[in-house]
Amino acid sequence: MDNLEKARKIIDDCDQKIVAIFEERLEAVLEVLAYKKEHKLSIFQPEREENILKKINSYLTDEQYSGELESLYKQILKISRKLQSKKMFPFNIVLIGFMGSGKSSVGKELASLLEMDYVDTDELITQNAKISINEIFSTSGEAGFRRLERDAIASLRDVKNTVIACGGGAVLVAENVEILKDNGKLVWLQVSPLEVTNRLKADTQRPLLKDMSNTETLVEMLGRRLPIYNEISQIKIDTDDKETTEIAKEIIEKLLAL
Ligand code: S3P
Repeated sequence: MDNLEKARKIIDDCDQKIVAIFEERLEAVLEVLAYKKEHKLSIFQPEREENILKKINSYLTDEQYSGELESLYKQILKISRKLQSKKMFPFNIVLIGFMGSGKSSVGKELASLLEMDYVDTDELITQNAKISINEIFSTSGEAGFRRLERDAIASLRDVKNTVIACGGGAVLVAENVEILKDNGKLVWLQVSPLEVTNRLKADTQRPLLKDMSNTETLVEMLGRRLPIYNEISQIKIDTDDKETTEIAKEIIEKLLAL
């Protein structure tokens, strides 16, 4: 056997061992998850991940590989988190609520905590149309925008293990709600009118709230929409005076309690 073949044989043997150990590790990860669920312990403990990263470095015999080891373990920890969230939440998490309720920022945070994919329906619409929401409203009006929104949501019919942040008006259409509910749990991010005004007073990207000084429009829209958000959502979260991470963690807790 020449040297190349010998080295390849060693690699094949290592791979076999790695796969067996990887499987064993993933099984242990699921056992930890089951224990935490049963004892109502916090599912994600970032300190534990930091500890693991520190510990594995001390197992190395040759320090030249510490960078490679760190990138391997970052990936392993991500995979473990994703496996756990797939088990815990075998559905999409759909964020609904009024403009300015924080659906996009909370959605991104939630997706990163759970290693889930993330989709924002407004982003999908602008990517498909290749123009901004403002431009869509000025060329095709609200009705034109709603048509594109319906197409965007219909394209999410088969999406799985994803956090979906919806435009505030998306769930006013029953057909959209049906699609979103089919594979997902709807989480309503509640926000007070005062908070909406504060958060969006300098915003120029929401054509429906162009005139924020007209409180009547806001009150009328809220009055029409709140009962719908209330009726279709499985989880309700008050977001006033809360940080994004706090809201994301609260969603995880409430989903686990469903
Ligand atoms: C809308 C909300 C917006 C966007 C569009 C219309 C609405 O999304 O879809 O401007 O009708 O509430 P955000 O809720 O993400 O701001």
